[in-house]
Amino acid sequence: MAHVFGGEWTEQKLVALRKYLEAYRKIFTANAKARYYRTVYIDAFAGTGERSDKPHMPPNQSLLDAVVTEEPLSTFLHKGSARIALELSSPFDEYVFVDKNPAHTAELSAMVERDFPHLVDRCKIYTADGAEVLHEQLAYGKDWSKTRAVLFLDPYGMSIHWDLIARIAKTKAIDMWLLFPLGQGINRLLSKDHLPMPAHEAKLTAVLGTDAWKQRFYSTHVQTDLFGEEHCQSHKTATFENMISFLKERLSTVFAGVAPDVMLLENSKGSPLYALCFAAGNPAGARPAISIASDLLRTRL
Ligand SMILES: C[S@@+](CC[C@H](N)C(=O)[O-])C[C@H]1O[C@@H](n2cnc3c(N)ncnc32)[C@H](O)[C@@H]1O
Repeated sequence: MAHVFGGEWTEQKLVALRKYLEAYRKIFTANAKARYYRTVYIDAFAGTGERSDKPHMPPNQSLLDAVVTEEPLSTFLHKGSARIALELSSPFDEYVFVDKNPAHTAELSAMVERDFPHLVDRCKIYTADGAEVLHEQLAYGKDWSKTRAVLFLDPYGMSIHWDLIARIAKTKAIDMWLLFPLGQGINRLLSKDHLPMPAHEAKLTAVLGTDAWKQRFYSTHVQTDLFGEEHCQSHKTATFENMISFLKERLSTVFAGVAPDVMLLENSKGSPLYALCFAAGNPAGARPAISIASDLLRTRL
């Protein structure tokens, strides 16, 4: 399991994605049977195509202003997931990019037109909710018997619910890279000395697709008070490792394969914030897919 901290994490996460996409396209060009399929890259939280290292921007100052007056743009700008996917030497047949921020999709469209004019016709860019567009694409956007896709889910927080994950898996055609919120999501909702409040319980169940997390993450004891009345008392017992194991188990119930390793983003105290994980959708392709992804997740790249 690779443990990564701070800015290096973003870099590592995107190197893993790039290497996977390169390997994926190689398989789909070299293998005669695989060439039958139309390949799609879907980035449901796509950003602008670039990403900035500059951590604290004054609210009334744009990145460009700050950079022009202080340091060259190249100091702060790096390739984002969308650019990485477009830059492949063997591009995908189709690209679906979604971001709900119109400024981000405008920048992304401009980048595609400026830097990838040969791919403009292959790109669909939606200013919308990533989960909603995915639900649409899964329902009637594609013939999944003739399509294979890599999906990158890089949201902020807990916006991906289990019903969507299950539908993605059901296509048996999509390999999914998922940034799963641990410290920034699940763990924050797990109260220590009692079960989470109802709204948090509902969110956890929506994200994990079952309420079995209660038994897995809490121990419950019945205590009798002085008046002979029984009370249930729950205490959180789950560690981050337990949460990751549970997530992988859940993914295994719907996907053809799940990488045994995850890449952890940790805060300065070594506490996990996010886990990057991988699941393969197609039973025939799952073994090589898991093998490639596991190597990428296990190693510091
Ligand atoms: C972590 S960034 C993605 C970075 C990108 N993967 C990259 O490597 O450059 C998350 C993006 O999701 C977008 N976003 C937030 N909520 C969203 C939603 N519900 N649907 C689609 N995009 C959303 C944000 O505007 C932001 O650009």
